[in-house]
Amino acid sequence: MNILLTGGLGFIGSHTAVVLSQQGHQVTILDNLCNSQIGVLANLEKITNQKLPFYEADVRDTQMLCKVLSENQIEVVIHFAGLKSVSESAQDPLKYYDNNVGGTIGLIEAMQVQKINKLIFSSSATVYGIPHYLPCDEDHPLAPINTYGKTKLQAEEIMRDLVVSDPAWSIVALRYFNPIGAHESGLLGEVPNGVPNNLMPYVCQVAIGKLPHLNVFGDDYETKDGTGERDYIHVMDLAEGHLAALNYVNHCPGFEVINLGTGIPCSVYEVIAAFEKSARRTIAKKVQPRRSGDLPIYFAKADKAKQLLGWSAKRDLQTMCDSSWKFQENLSK
Ligand code: NAD
Ligand code: UD1
Repeated sequence: MNILLTGGLGFIGSHTAVVLSQQGHQVTILDNLCNSQIGVLANLEKITNQKLPFYEADVRDTQMLCKVLSENQIEVVIHFAGLKSVSESAQDPLKYYDNNVGGTIGLIEAMQVQKINKLIFSSSATVYGIPHYLPCDEDHPLAPINTYGKTKLQAEEIMRDLVVSDPAWSIVALRYFNPIGAHESGLLGEVPNGVPNNLMPYVCQVAIGKLPHLNVFGDDYETKDGTGERDYIHVMDLAEGHLAALNYVNHCPGFEVINLGTGIPCSVYEVIAAFEKSARRTIAKKVQPRRSGDLPIYFAKADKAKQLLGWSAKRDLQTMCDSSWKFQENLSK
């Protein structure tokens, strides 16, 4: 099929581009490079051994989108393009509503003009907010506690209304848990801007000596070892989840929300231990007070993805750490 990936040079989009291309799909990428590098395209082409059409453009540019959709005879769009920093979304909420909600509206308008009605959307487990129960299923109440999460929820709601207004649409919103890891080649991975906020990129930078130690945000939670527990999912499993969702949107009209997680929580100390094994070195760490806005533990109920998409995550924490380390080592060469 002809598939447009908005934000396709980013962390998750680039890994999905590999999986889709290797399955024989024709992938077109649109990205404004606000959080990615053009060099990712060359690495993508190296891995897939294919030339991928690329447009440096913004999803809010509806005219440009119409051109890209028609020029490449796009049949399905996967909408990764978005801003994802929780802290930045608190400082600059308008930027987040404009990009994440405005960008989604612009994209849908262009799709309507071009009569394309199949869409897969990058949502986030952050739409659930503070867990009322665990594991978190898709019926869990929706109460995001940060602006970033609210933009994701609003985008989902727009899609839900759209499908009611026109049942020919087929939309799947995938709620990702904590994606980490990298492509096995070591050529693609996550490249954070500035000092990382998230655990895995921070650990990677401590391992190569760019940062002196990891700050462990709290070791007094009521969790297995006192540190926060999360549902880390390998980015290649996530990418394969998009392939499964592609098959689904092709056959099933309507709107569905589906968790993509492993269903297995891992603690900060477990991640450090696995990473130390991968990198064969010790990660210096200092226990700090809890980070404001952090949850002690959350993880997915991953049954719906299995039932509807026939997909489940296969790769374990060690594989996630091995691939993250390989990518980090390559980056620092
Ligand atoms: P990323 O920042 O690596 O990739 C997003 C890409 O979109 C970047 O290449 C960026 O340049 C591009 N982009 C942003 N705004 C754009 C715009 N207006 N027009 C065109 N391109 C634009 O992020 P990622 O980790 O790959 O995440 C992809 C999607 O998944 C995002 O929507 C994010 O909110 C969502 N998500 C990510 C996580 C995570 O932990 N990584 C978790 C849940 C959901
Ligand atoms: C964060 C975002 C969430 C987003 C997710 C993407 C916040 C409040 N939440 O979630 O919206 O969807 O990233 O993956 O920012 N930790 C440390 N030291 C660090 C970094 C993290 O101890 O330097 C701990 C955290 O306290 C947490 C765990 O590691 O227990 C994971 O943190 P992180 O990778 O930031 O992910 P989330 O907190 O789940």
